[in-house]
Amino acid sequence: MELMDAIRSRRSIRVFDGTPVAREVVAELIDAATYAPSRMNVQPWYFHVAMGESRARIAEVMAMTTSYLDEYLDMLGPEGVEHAARFYAELGRAPVIIGVASPCTDDEHEARDYAISVGAALENLLLAAVGRGIGACSISVPHWISDRLAEQFDIADGWQITSMIVLGHADEVPAPRERDTDVVTYLT
Ligand SMILES: Cc1cc2nc3c(=O)[nH]c(=O)nc-3n(C[C@H](O)[C@H](O)[C@H](O)COP(=O)(O)O)c2cc1C
Repeated sequence: MELMDAIRSRRSIRVFDGTPVAREVVAELIDAATYAPSRMNVQPWYFHVAMGESRARIAEVMAMTTSYLDEYLDMLGPEGVEHAARFYAELGRAPVIIGVASPCTDDEHEARDYAISVGAALENLLLAAVGRGIGACSISVPHWISDRLAEQFDIADGWQITSMIVLGHADEVPAPRERDTDVVTYLT
C-alpha cells in the first residue's frame, strides 16, 4: 500500500472480530515502531504485549473504567458514553493489547520529548498495521487504574506506562473522518 493511502485511510478501530493476530505480525508492527525518530535517539519506549491469559486479565482491569465514564458525559454526550462503555467492557474483542512504557523523568523538557518520541513510534505502528490489514486503536491509560495496569503489564522500575494500543481484525471500520485543514501558516 502507498504510504499516503495508509495515512489517509487509517482510522481508530474499536470493534474486532475476535480472531487472533499472529505473533510474527505483532512483532513486525513493533519493529516498525522502533524505526521512529526520538530525542537524541534515546528510543524511550518499551512494548509489553498481552495476548491470551494476560490479555484477559488486562481487559478485566480496563473494564473497571466503565464505572468512571459518567465523568465524560459533558464531553461525549450520552451516546458517546454508551459507545465508550461498550468498547471498554470488552475492548472491542481485540485479541492483542500492548502496553507502551517510557522511562520516568523529572525533567519536563525530557518528558515532553519522550512523549513526542513515543507518539511517533505509535504512529509508525498504527500505519504498519494499516499496511498489514490489521485494525488498531491507541488508548490513553486511565489514571484511576494506571497502577493496576502497570502491575499487569509488568512495567519495569524506573519506567511508566504511557499508552496502550489494541490490535485485531476489524469488524467495523468507520468512514473517513472530517479533518481541520485550516492548520497552517506559511511565513514569508
Ligand atoms: C494519545 C491518544 C489517546 C487516545 N485515547 C483514546 C482512548 O482512550 N479511547 C479511545 O477510544 N480512543 C482513543 N484515542 C483515539 C482517538 O479517539 C482517535 O484517534 C480520534 O478520535 C481520531 O479518530 P481516528 O484515529 O479514527 O482518525 C486516542 C488517540 C490518541 C492519539
